[in-house]
Amino acid sequence: MAVIPVDIAGRPYEVRVGTGLLATLVEQCRGKLRKRRVPIVTDARVHAAWGAVVENALHEGGHEAVWRILPAGESTKSWEQLAALVDWLLAEEVERGDHILALGGGVIGDLTGFAAAILKRGCNFIQLPTSLLAQVDSSVGGKTAINTPAGKNLVGAFHQPSLVLADLAVLDTLPLRELQAGYAEVVKYGLLGDADFFAWCDEHGPALLEGDSAAREYAVAHSVATKARIVNEDERETLGLRALLNLGHTFGHALEAQTGFGERLLHGEAVALGMVLAARFSAHRGLMPRASAEHVAQHLASVGMASEISALGLNCDGAALTAHMLHDKKMDAGTLPFVLMKGIGQAFLAKDVALDEVAAFLDEQLRG
Ligand code: GLY
Repeated sequence: MAVIPVDIAGRPYEVRVGTGLLATLVEQCRGKLRKRRVPIVTDARVHAAWGAVVENALHEGGHEAVWRILPAGESTKSWEQLAALVDWLLAEEVERGDHILALGGGVIGDLTGFAAAILKRGCNFIQLPTSLLAQVDSSVGGKTAINTPAGKNLVGAFHQPSLVLADLAVLDTLPLRELQAGYAEVVKYGLLGDADFFAWCDEHGPALLEGDSAAREYAVAHSVATKARIVNEDERETLGLRALLNLGHTFGHALEAQTGFGERLLHGEAVALGMVLAARFSAHRGLMPRASAEHVAQHLASVGMASEISALGLNCDGAALTAHMLHDKKMDAGTLPFVLMKGIGQAFLAKDVALDEVAAFLDEQLRG
């Protein structure tokens, strides 16, 4: 097992990465589960796959699982589900010192984390991420949120978990498409600041996706350690460092918005395409060698991921895509900062990008 400390002012916690952590949940949570009844939030899909393992682990450790099972999917991150969850936690008489368990992907982690942030002005919670994306990104660093009709993740709070248990066993039951989507966030850590890790992805990415457990453990632990370093320094995204974690996300968000935030394009798939666009846009501006930008596209294609937006059949122009960017929560005094690259592993925040320039570039990319 790899243990990665996250040391955010006054509230240090650990991210543990290994196989079988859910089955040994009570031991992993030693000192944190104060009561017999343990509130767990999950979704119906995850409950079907992992509910019994978690329930048995708690039972054997002298606890009783009390489930809140929500519908799977992005629409669960809503005001309605948040209000109902908070009411349920109040009815369960959860106290500040108790720990609420979030068993699921980013949707469950974000919703439960936000409920924990506002319940009694802040309760403890533990992240049990069940997707690769949640393990390497959303479960670590304390961003919690819901979506509103105005956009995704526009209402939320920074609220750090007390512990994150990334059980690699859950990756064995994920569909390939979901693994690939999570893998995009792994590659992101190489692209943003670690050319050696990008080279590692080139060599071991296919094995990771095919089930190589050593590759999975290394990739998850390395990604978490990178994210931990970044959030330790810039928890609230005020120094321009945490913002680098948004590499590919501004372009990706526009693609998600255009495709309706659904199954047609998963978040990680949009991030993968967004990273290709960020690389090519950087090359277009003369910042990054063209060959390096194409290397990013080739790598994603080599693991079976879409790397060309011209193949999405979007039926829109570049201006339609940049229109989605106008409501981005990163918008700052009329300017939208973009994460661009000077090379693989050399991301930086550009604040001089005009949206018409991006729209013209996207027109070219949409034509292929
Ligand atoms: N997913 C980006 C961040 O946590 O900052």
